[in-house]
Amino acid sequence: MRKFGWIVGLCCASLFAQTGADDKLAPYYPTPATIVEKMLQLGGLKAGEKMFDLGSGDGRIVILAAQKFHADATGVELDRDLCTQSLAKIRKLGLEKNAHILNGDLLKQNYSSADLITVYLLPDSIDNKVQPLLDQQLKKGARVVAHDFEFKNWTPEKVENIADDGEGRSHTLYLYRK
Ligand SMILES: C[S@@+](CC[C@H](N)C(=O)[O-])C[C@H]1O[C@@H](n2cnc3c(N)ncnc32)[C@H](O)[C@@H]1O
Repeated sequence: MRKFGWIVGLCCASLFAQTGADDKLAPYYPTPATIVEKMLQLGGLKAGEKMFDLGSGDGRIVILAAQKFHADATGVELDRDLCTQSLAKIRKLGLEKNAHILNGDLLKQNYSSADLITVYLLPDSIDNKVQPLLDQQLKKGARVVAHDFEFKNWTPEKVENIADDGEGRSHTLYLYRK
């Protein structure tokens, strides 16, 4: 039930945000740490693989991907302050070799080298902007894990429902493979 409150809140926040910036595909709303790990596990992330988090917020997904899964991880984030925060954390943890943050529009990047993509963005952005881009760019076998908002034109290989993340919120994760 709480999940729906958050979804409505996120959609309203987005309507406001979109009046100011067309390229904002979702407001900042971080994935809880327990769910971050489940996303990377569901995506089958392996050491040395290339992963991208589309709209990386404070860098938590990129950081765990580099630190625990030993992947080559890149986050793309529009908000400069969130990029600064992410880079400070990456430096503090000594993860500069494996964890990278690009300050820019996630729609203007190239994901053709990606083994895994993680996405926590609004449904409208996924349907109209992100999915067409990934359809064009992703290599065969690349995986995509979406948090709470599905790619409605793709068929998931697996769907995982998490009843409680420890903070009283439920989550749904979707795994897709090209
Ligand atoms: C719901 S948050 C998810 C943050 C992070 N991926 C996580 O799961 O904790 C969405 C993020 O996408 C960023 N964002 C929105 N539109 C973007 C765009 N066009 N390019 C890059 N980042 C964007 C927002 O600033 C925000 O940090």
